[in-house]
Amino acid sequence: MAKLAGSAGVPVLGDKSLDFYRDPVGFCQQKIDKHRGRVFQCRVLNRATVFVCSVRAMRELLCEKSNTFQKDPTDLMTNMYGDTVVTTNGEEAYLLRLSLTTLFTGSCLKSSNDYITSVCERHLKDLSLSGRPPCLYSAFKRLGTELVLGLFLNVRAEEQPQLFQEIVQLCTQHWHGLISAPVNVKVPLWSSGFSNALDARDRLMDIIKDKLKNDTQGFVGSLGSLPLPDSSSASQHLLLFISALIPKALASLLTSFTLALSGNEQKHRRRAAEDPDYLRRVLLEVQRLWPPFIGGRRIADEDSTLAGFHVPKDYGVIYISHSVHRDPEVFEQPDHFLPERWSGRNAGQEHFLCSFGNGPRSCIGTKLTDVFLKEACMYLLKNCDWCLDPPSQDLEYKWLPVSRPAHPPAISFTRLDAAGCDGSDTS
Ligand code: HEM
Repeated sequence: MAKLAGSAGVPVLGDKSLDFYRDPVGFCQQKIDKHRGRVFQCRVLNRATVFVCSVRAMRELLCEKSNTFQKDPTDLMTNMYGDTVVTTNGEEAYLLRLSLTTLFTGSCLKSSNDYITSVCERHLKDLSLSGRPPCLYSAFKRLGTELVLGLFLNVRAEEQPQLFQEIVQLCTQHWHGLISAPVNVKVPLWSSGFSNALDARDRLMDIIKDKLKNDTQGFVGSLGSLPLPDSSSASQHLLLFISALIPKALASLLTSFTLALSGNEQKHRRRAAEDPDYLRRVLLEVQRLWPPFIGGRRIADEDSTLAGFHVPKDYGVIYISHSVHRDPEVFEQPDHFLPERWSGRNAGQEHFLCSFGNGPRSCIGTKLTDVFLKEACMYLLKNCDWCLDPPSQDLEYKWLPVSRPAHPPAISFTRLDAAGCDGSDTS
C-alpha cells in the first residue's frame, strides 16, 4: 500500500481551499505535474483530502468502494436544502432513490416530452432569430429555468409571469447563499449572503408546500403521492430540483455543445442533424471535455485504499471530473475534441465518465437531461446554422460554479431557411 503524495497540511493555516476555488483546474494540473500522479492529498475545507484525477481511482471511489466512501451528512448542501437524498447514506438513500427515480424514467418521463419540445422551440426560435445573442449561456439558462419550473412546479412563464419571476429571484438569492459560504470557510453561518439565502429558502418552501397541497397534476402531483420517509421530504426534494443548479448545468452543456460545433465546418453540424448516433458521440465528447460540475465529495468511513494509495478514516475525497476525463491511460489525445473516439477505442466506455457521477449514487436526472439535450440540440441543428464571429476568440473556460466560457463568446446565428453563416461551406 503506497503513501499518498502531497501533504495534508496543518489545520487552518495549511488550508488550500481558496487556491482551489480560484482555479480548480489549474490547481489540479499543477499538483498532477508536481507529484507525477493523478491521486494526491492536500487540505481543503480544513480537512485532509484526497484528490482523485484518474479513471481507476474514480471507479473505485464511486463504484467498487462506494460503501466505504460515504456522502457527508454535514455537507453545506444539507444546510441549504435540508435532508435530501444528496447527503443521505445507506438504506435510506437506496429507498429514496428507488422512489424518486420513478419520476424521472418510464411513463413519467414520457409525459414530459411535449412540454420539453414546446419550451425548446419557443426559446431557441427567439435565440436563432436574434442573430447575435449577447450571452449564449444566459439565454440557455433562461431556457433551463423555464423547463425546470414548468416541469417540476407547474409554473409556466407565459401563464403566471409574476409568480415565475418571483421564484426565479428567490432561487438566485438562495443560490448566492450557497456559493458565498465556501469562501467564508471559517464562519459560513455568519455571512449576510447566507442569511438572505435562508430567508429565500423559507419563502420558496411556502410556495412549494402550497403547490404540493393544491396541485394533483404533473410532477408535483406524482411527488405528493410517493412513499417518502417524512412529511417534509417531498418539499425539500422539490426545493433541490428547482434550485439554480440544474438550469446552470443544462446551460453549461448547451453552451459547450454550441461552441464545439461553432467552427466553419458546416458538414459536422449537418452530419449531427442527420445521424442521431453521431450526435450521441458529439454529446459524449462535450460532457467529457466540459463536465458542468467540477466533481463530487465523499468521506472515508474507515481506512481504505484508492488506486493502491492508503486513505485513512475520516479523510475527505474529491473526484475532479475534468481531470478524470483527461486521464491519458484511458483517453488518447485527451485534450482533443474527437467524437469518433466513442465508436473507436473508447466505444462502450461511457462508464469511464463522471459528469453525472458514477455507480450507485450517480445522478437520477440523466435520462431527463438526455431527452432535453437531444431535443434542444436537434432543434438548433435542424433550424439554424451558427459560427464564431470573429472566428478567432478567447474561449478560455471558468469552472465554478459550473463550466462555461470566462468571456461570453460572440456567435452569429442564421435560420437555415435564410442564407448560411457566410453563405458557403468552407470545410
Ligand atoms: C446537466 C445536468 C446535470 C448534471 C451535470 C448533473 C450532475 C450530477 C452529478 C455529478 C451527481 C453526482 C454527485 C456526487 O457524486 O456527489 C448528481 C447527482 C444527483 N443529481 Fe444530477 N445532474 C444533472 C441534472 C439533474 C436533474 C435534471 C436532476 C433531477 C431533477 C438531478 C438530480 C440529482 C440527484 C437527486 C442527485 C443525487 C443522487 C444521490 O446522491 O444518490 N440531476 N448529478
